Amino acid sequence: MSISSFLTKKFLKSVFFPAHNRGEALPKKLVKLLRDQPGYWDLPELPEIGSTLSQRGLIAKTQKEFSKKFGVKRCFFGVNGASGLIQSAVIAIAKPGEAILMPRNVHISVIKICAMQNIHPIFFDLEFSSETGHYKPITKIWLKNVFKKINFYEKKIVGVILVSPSYHGYAGDLDPLIDLCHQKNLPVVVDEAHGSYFLFCEDLKLPKSALISNADLVIHSLHKSLNGLTQTAALWYKGDLVNENNLIKSINLLQTTSQSSLLLSSCEESIKDWLNRKSLSKYKKRILQAKSIYKNLIQKNIPLIETQDPLKIVLNTSKVGIDGFTADKFFYKNGLIAELPEMMTLTFCLGFANQKDFLSLFEKLWNKLLLNSKNLKSLEVLQSPFKLVQEPEIEIGIAWRSDTRSIPFSQSLNKISGDIICPYPPGIPLLVPGEKIDLARFNWINNQSLCNKDLVNFKIRVI
Ligand SMILES: Cc1ncc(COP(=O)(O)O)c(C=O)c1O
Repeated sequence: MSISSFLTKKFLKSVFFPAHNRGEALPKKLVKLLRDQPGYWDLPELPEIGSTLSQRGLIAKTQKEFSKKFGVKRCFFGVNGASGLIQSAVIAIAKPGEAILMPRNVHISVIKICAMQNIHPIFFDLEFSSETGHYKPITKIWLKNVFKKINFYEKKIVGVILVSPSYHGYAGDLDPLIDLCHQKNLPVVVDEAHGSYFLFCEDLKLPKSALISNADLVIHSLHKSLNGLTQTAALWYKGDLVNENNLIKSINLLQTTSQSSLLLSSCEESIKDWLNRKSLSKYKKRILQAKSIYKNLIQKNIPLIETQDPLKIVLNTSKVGIDGFTADKFFYKNGLIAELPEMMTLTFCLGFANQKDFLSLFEKLWNKLLLNSKNLKSLEVLQSPFKLVQEPEIEIGIAWRSDTRSIPFSQSLNKISGDIICPYPPGIPLLVPGEKIDLARFNWINNQSLCNKDLVNFKIRVI
């Protein structure tokens, strides 16, 4: 089968990214464009359109309008996902040899650019829940304790990255965290890939967008948390702690010279759609519908985990002795396609389409799954093995470029990794280049690999 023929395959119910739910929730103007003569709209960078970095043209005009609307200095669209813009943000704040403070659940895009530029990641651990296998959102007290462990001057720390909300939708209060960093004059990049829509619905008791808090650079994945096409993203620039020229240079360095006019139009329309009163009211109904789906399932004693993002339905399969990968296979076979299987949970992303038929299908399949499963004892996951603050043993850029040999992970105890070990989704590295595979890490990764087929008998490159 060719890729193109697979793309039209029908599933009973898709609750995965992109959040436009297979076109159902795409902005009307984009649908109209796609219905026009196929490909006619695939234009190069004509003067009327310009690019994300040009001074004139339609893209510059819309980016300016959006900056004004949200009270930021600049807005930049991106066509290489949030990943591309996050990487630009990283090199805008740090030079090779400098360090950035980041949480353990940082996205792999950050690690890749750190390896490429030899920017030192200084990781801080997060509170971990053995019940869900997830990291909890960071609090002000936690970050204060992290700060106490660090000699900022000696470490040449030039910025902080925060991830909020997480893939599952956990989010805390960003304001006090950003304040703490700003007191040290450190710019804050917030990876808000999963929280773009928070910006538009302040009245729905959603987490406050990092853009309204005082983050310096905020990155949105428009296909994950708004109704953009895959690869669309936006970066928002605020404050005085990041040099604007550095930012522009960094975006320029990593972006393609042939930006897709379709994707750029999708960036524009997905944001405009949420600024339109009528469609905003439709999306708000969808968010309320998602909240009511959650309540309904909880009333039926289905083990869901509460997060701050109503569009994520996080099923704690471990409560009934089933790992998230096995549950995922079962739901997939029965036509309900989820987004994120993990050891203890399976996460469904409702997206922005009407989900009126989700509840009954989900409930029916859940009951069927329970009937099929024999072991109803809760599963257990090992506590994460990290120190509160930890750096790789060898500089990441040096480890990444070192000569390595590939060995089975089972033989890697006490070796130094030259590799990133990172199941996707969620794209959170378990190990980065330069880190030592000590006993605690070795046992933890083995425990993580019990159910994850990405990690079965896998090989690792060591130095
Ligand atoms: C927390 C987080 N940040 C960034 C990204 C990258 O987003 P994109 O797929 O738009 O490149 C992801 C993707 O999984 C993510 O989970």
